[in-house]
Amino acid sequence: RSPGWPALLGPLVVPAGVVTLRPPKLRDGSVWSMCRLRDRNYLQRWEPTSMGTWESRNAKLAWPAQWSALRSIARRGDGLPFVITVDGVFAGQLTVGNVVRGALRSAWVGYWVTEQRAGGGVATAAVALAVDHCFGPVGLHRLEATVRPENEPSVRVLEKSGFRREGLFERYLDVAGAWRDHYVYGTTVEDHPEGLVSELVRSGRARRS
Ligand code: ACO
Repeated sequence: RSPGWPALLGPLVVPAGVVTLRPPKLRDGSVWSMCRLRDRNYLQRWEPTSMGTWESRNAKLAWPAQWSALRSIARRGDGLPFVITVDGVFAGQLTVGNVVRGALRSAWVGYWVTEQRAGGGVATAAVALAVDHCFGPVGLHRLEATVRPENEPSVRVLEKSGFRREGLFERYLDVAGAWRDHYVYGTTVEDHPEGLVSELVRSGRARRS
């Protein structure tokens, strides 16, 4: 078993509802697929280019393989794949990936929230829960996130979460069919002496239920 996995994080109350993070389940397939097919225009322009059509990659039948790949990654301790729920309902995903231990003890974080639930503090709450968990039970020291400069909502999530903009990776990632520049954001344990959830609660952006 890897440190900090499996885990249930939250709940944390934000304007959109009650946010929790939990491991993905095989039975998330229907709702995952329904959200991803419905929100295609909103999601696709920010997501890495991949093989096959959007419909085939996000079909209900594509979920068992994804779920099983995520489960293996988590079991090996290479990542922490979470489902975000709002009021108990599937509302997106937050993934901590490429966990490197040793003298680096770092990972990246990425997320998406359904269009219907966006703008209500869900991603910010999910990032806060994940950061505290990674810097606590998981034992990491640094987290980073890469984001396209045009992705204003996501840039805002990282800045609200105390991540520092550390640079610009030019032509970094193949997103929506072209090599896109990305800002790299980072944060380390030292930035959050009281924990990010506490900071969020103290600033009035969230409350513990
Ligand atoms: N311009 C500027 N700010 C904006 C805009 C805009 N067009 N739209 C929303 N915002 C602000 C909101 O007002 C809010 O800030 P505020 O609290 O100061 O008002 C902030 O952006 C969003 O914060 P949350 O409500 O916590 O985030 P939300 O739950 O809406 O999720 C997310 C944000 C995940 C980026 C969502 O929009 C999404 O899933 N987008 C599609 C997929 C995606 O881009 N994922 C991120 C890829 S990059 C990465 O993973 C590191």
